[in-house]
Amino acid sequence: MTPNHRIVFTTHGGPEVLRLVSEELADPGPGEVMIKHEAIGVNFVETYFRSGLYNTPLPSGLGTEASGTIIKLGKNITGFQIGDRVAYAQGPLGSYSEIRNVAERYLVKIPENVSMEEAAGGLLKGLTVYYLFHETYPLQKGQTILFHAAAGGVGLIACQWARHLGVRLIGTVSTPEKATLAKKYGASEIINYSLENVSEEVLKLTSGKKVPVVYDGVGKSTWELSLDSLAPRGLLVSFGNASGPVTNVNLSTLSQKGSLYVTRPVLATYMDTPDKLKTGASELFNLISQKKIKVTIDKKFKLEEAAKAHEYVANRNSMGSTILVP
Ligand SMILES: NC(=O)c1ccc[n+]([C@@H]2O[C@H](COP(=O)([O-])OP(=O)(O)OC[C@H]3O[C@@H](n4cnc5c(N)ncnc54)[C@H](OP(=O)(O)O)[C@@H]3O)[C@@H](O)[C@H]2O)c1
Repeated sequence: MTPNHRIVFTTHGGPEVLRLVSEELADPGPGEVMIKHEAIGVNFVETYFRSGLYNTPLPSGLGTEASGTIIKLGKNITGFQIGDRVAYAQGPLGSYSEIRNVAERYLVKIPENVSMEEAAGGLLKGLTVYYLFHETYPLQKGQTILFHAAAGGVGLIACQWARHLGVRLIGTVSTPEKATLAKKYGASEIINYSLENVSEEVLKLTSGKKVPVVYDGVGKSTWELSLDSLAPRGLLVSFGNASGPVTNVNLSTLSQKGSLYVTRPVLATYMDTPDKLKTGASELFNLISQKKIKVTIDKKFKLEEAAKAHEYVANRNSMGSTILVP
């Protein structure tokens, strides 16, 4: 047994339901390693689990992403050793903890020139951009796309990845400060959706053509605007609900707006084997190593300040990645 602290919640609710508890962690089981965390990624999705928008049995731990060093091996571990620097971004909830047992299949090794903080702040978000841009709708050089919340954690990586691919990314943000940041990271144009009508601006920016794909992690408040920004037979990739979930969709809307497609993807479907995970992670880490992508750590909180981190992210403050440090 190893002493540990971790964040748990026993009821759904606001950030205040998150509590730090002490426990003794059992040794890793077969196929698992014990990781001493150095940094833990905070992702918007964790606010959905905490609030109850996404169902999870209670009591529950929280978080799916962290980086650290392997300190114990369970039986049948083939690809990792004690002392390896590793990160993960999938699996059961519980990464908001000092130490953790994690199945080998979720692990990737962190290259020497990528820091623990960059790995924890960038793996989940970067793998998301990887599958959105390379698999959900494989982007081609010269294309124009619309990407919502372009100055957020996923957003800033998307801006840089689009620039690397030679794709013109029109981003949306809610403040002038976020607009400046997203442009600095590679957005070609920015629409401030607190002030401007997104679909009208997209129409102007594309000389009436609109875009072939919209990446929408905002959900409820942008749903109609996203559909109205798509060219005929375009694809709406609805990959998140930061403003609330999209419900009561009338399918005939898709025909009326031009035979549109919609998909609601999740990372786990795209990274469902260790090989796919390794391919995505090595693309991401290569771009970080080549300085094509910078993982910006906007804010660091102590593990016991997880509630403050949730307030920060849910209140639309994040400009880049937020991490917890044990
Ligand atoms: N499906 C997947 O595989 C997958 C994987 C990773 C992330 N995601 C999703 O991607 C999105 C971005 O994730 P992230 O962790 O990088 O978060 P984030 O972008 O850092 O934060 C969410 C952003 O959404 C925008 N937003 C718009 N309306 C909002 C509202 N009513 N309340 C709060 N925020 C609002 C805010 O930016 P503005 O102030 O500029 O509007 C906010 O900063 C989330 O929806 C997340 O669930 C999905």
